[in-house]
Formats: sequence, C-alpha cells, structure tokens
Amino acid sequence: MLSMSFLVAVFWYCRRLYSFLAQLLKRWSNYLQRKLIRNLSVLTEVDLLGYSAREWKGETKHAKHMREAYEELFWSCHIKYLRQVRRDNYCVLRAVLFQIFSQGIPFPSWMKERDILKLPEKLLYSQGCNWIQQYSFGPERYTGPNAFGKLRKCMETLKTNWTEISATKDHEARGNMCNTLFSDESKEHKLYEAIKFIMLYEVVEAYEQIKNREEATHNLFSLLLARDSSSDPLSFMMNRLNSIGDSICLDQVELFLLGYLLEVKIRVYRLHRFNTEEFQVNYPEEYRREWNEISLLTEDDRYYHIPLFRT
Ligand SMILES: *[C@@H]1O[C@H](CO)[C@@H](O)[C@H](O)[C@H]1NC(C)=O
Ligand SMILES: *[C@@H]1O[C@H](CO)[C@@H](O)[C@H](O)[C@H]1NC(C)=O
Repeated sequence: MLSMSFLVAVFWYCRRLYSFLAQLLKRWSNYLQRKLIRNLSVLTEVDLLGYSAREWKGETKHAKHMREAYEELFWSCHIKYLRQVRRDNYCVLRAVLFQIFSQGIPFPSWMKERDILKLPEKLLYSQGCNWIQQYSFGPERYTGPNAFGKLRKCMETLKTNWTEISATKDHEARGNMCNTLFSDESKEHKLYEAIKFIMLYEVVEAYEQIKNREEATHNLFSLLLARDSSSDPLSFMMNRLNSIGDSICLDQVELFLLGYLLEVKIRVYRLHRFNTEEFQVNYPEEYRREWNEISLLTEDDRYYHIPLFRT
C-alpha cells in the first residue's frame, strides 16, 4: 500500500518535472527564435502566386496588372517562389549580395588581382582624394576623423566574409552562414558600405581615364557622370553614395555599375513594367559570357525580392 502511494508520488513529480522542462524548452526556443529567426533580413521562400494574391487584393487596375504580371512570371518564366527582402534603403544591395553569398559565387576576376583592402589607401594617398574623409556610412551618418579606419574595417569584413562563404562548398552550411550574417544589421551594413566604397573607387578610376582620354571606359560611366547630381567623384559621393542606405536607394544607372563591378549579370523582372519592353532588364546590358547570373524582382524599382526558379 505504502509503495503504491510512493509510486504515485514519484509519477506525479515526474509529470511536474516533465511539464516544467517542456515549458523551459519552449521559452528557450522562443528566445532563440527571437534572437535568430525573427531578425532574418531575407525571409524563407513563399509560394509566388500565394504572395501575389495576398499583396494585391482587390479589383483596382493596378492590383489586376500586378497579379497578371505575377502569373506571367509563374507560367512563362518558371518562377515558382520568392524570398522577401527587408524593405529599407539597402534593399537592392542586400538582395544582390545575399544571392552572391548563398550561391557561393567567387570574387570577380579584378578583385583576385587587386586587394580590396588597399583601395581606401590607394584613393587617399596615390590619387590624392583626401575628401574621402567625408565619406559617411548610410544611416549611421558618421563623418569624423576615423572615417578612413572605418572604411578599412568594412573592406576587411567584406573580404573575409566573401572568402569564407565562397570557400564553403556544402550548400546547407553556406545557407546557415548566410542566415547568421543576414540577421545582424551591424554586420550587414559593413558589407554594403564596402560595396558602396568600391563603387566610388570605380568612378574615381573611370573619371581619371576620361579626363586623360586614356582607354575607353564602359559607357555606363558617361551616363553616370552626365547627371547633375554626380558630375564628378566628389559630388557622386556627397549627393548619392553618402545617402544610400539612409534616405535613398540605388537607381538604375547605379545598378549597372553594381553589376559591372561585381561581374554578375543582374536580371531584373520589373512588374510595374509588365507588357512593355522594360519588363526584363539586364544590369549591365553588356556582360561577358563567363559572368554568373542572379535575378531580382521588383514592383517599383525601389524594393526588390529574390525570385526562385523551379521547373
Ligand atoms: C533581433 O532584434 C532584437 C530587437 O529587434 C534584438 O534585441 C536582438 O538582439 C536581435 N538579434 C540578433 C541576433 O541580432
Ligand atoms: C565576417 O567578418 C567579420 C569581421 O571580419 C568576422 O568577425 C566574421 O567571423 C566573418 N563571418 C564569416 C561568416 O565569415
């Protein structure tokens, strides 16, 4: 009789312990989710047509147009899923870099020959661009004596992260590294600032070449420098780059430059241009055959998502 009630007591304690542990585990996993998953800046894939139906309800002309454009992507372009990318002013840089990293695309050929860590020094000392001290870092708006040191840090982060991720051959391991990287804003922003700085570097180089009438540069540079806002490298930095990520995002010409310097063909499906010749655009338009290709999808040339193809 005694042993029976002893067993019951033990059983009862075990159940208490079990439900206590279960609760602990649940709290712990919620905590982990908040820590890791909720901050993902590139979400996991969702069904394309489901997304379109949720986003574009109603019978307005624009909503119908968008739904039709999504159907076209689904049926004719074999895009079945999309990954949503956080909507801020770094959006397109994020969508591009995320794909480069997650597909394990290596450094462009010129970055293998030239160490990107040296670029800030090169502009400052060899090219005499002491105005790069006025570089500011997107939403951080940092301008101060240490801009140069901060730039070096950004370049270092880009180089080490890109090297490490592209050397990881296992698809799943690479995906996990990307999820870690793309859920921490401070790390992400360093990468984007590094890319922005490389854009500046390219513009400085091209500007010098055009001035000295050396070899012909890619015609995207003449387009870029023809704008009032960026008729020379300094004004490009002050009027455009310093605000990218903060109050403005890359425009079309800058997207050409991005594809060119990363040596990737960026194919963009522009849904608001559905039924026109500008529905599918490649950035840049001229590309070499050996370049890797990535794809983006946009509804407004401002925010971008990542389309996924399946047959
Ligand atoms: C995720 O965001 C929350 C607040 O929005 C923050 O407290 C937490 O540290 C972030 N986690 C990571 C891994 O960045
Ligand atoms: C990314 O770079 C930072 C800074 O250099 C480094 O601490 C971090 O471990 C790197 N992460 C990966 C996945 O390479």
